[in-house]
Amino acid sequence: KKQPVTMRRSVRILLVGDRGVGKTSLILSLVSEEFPDDVPHRAEEITIPADVIPEMVPTHIVDYSAYEQTDSELMAEVRRAHVVCVVYSVVEPSTLVRVTTRWLPLIREATATHSTPSPIILVGNKVDLVEETTLESAEEIMEEYPEIESFVECSAKSLKNISEMFYYAQKAVLHPTGPVYITEKQD
Ligand code: GTP
Ligand code: MG
Repeated sequence: KKQPVTMRRSVRILLVGDRGVGKTSLILSLVSEEFPDDVPHRAEEITIPADVIPEMVPTHIVDYSAYEQTDSELMAEVRRAHVVCVVYSVVEPSTLVRVTTRWLPLIREATATHSTPSPIILVGNKVDLVEETTLESAEEIMEEYPEIESFVECSAKSLKNISEMFYYAQKAVLHPTGPVYITEKQD
């Protein structure tokens, strides 16, 4: 029942997830290509110019922080986004639990009236702190939530898979295919 996708004139990427999982660090690491030691709760909206990708559309990257935004502001941002990155920390299991108890249901609720579900990128951050992968848990979640287009394990600190994460978010909007897995184990 998927409707044909028309090419967007911009890509709006929103990052959500529990406090402290590294949303702001991921955005600022992408922009500065180094790990920022001190980050504000919420990064300013960032626009990546159109001419860096072949599709020639600008990309807007939008941060969320519960410290600075209300739930209704969050819902409005989820509705405006073309793709949502749901971030958890691979070293804080409670933040992974909340992916299914809070974040994915919240996105479904916010976008219930949309003709097609917004694509989602599931992001396990802070892989610099562990050896094990959370791929198995992610696969279980992806079976339940087919709107998840890709899964990425990354580190804002080591910069592992940072550009990949944002690339797969752009790709989910401009060339939806689903599902793609990018983990530590993959070369
Ligand atoms: P809120 O805005 O409060 O919701 O948090 P956030 O999700 O934006 O997290 P933030 O970027 O503020 O990072 C929280 C803490 O985790 C900071 O101390 C970061 O330095 C740290 N951190 C973020 N990413 C990584 C990472 O990949 N590896 C490690 N080791 N630490 C990280
Ligand atoms: Mg933040």
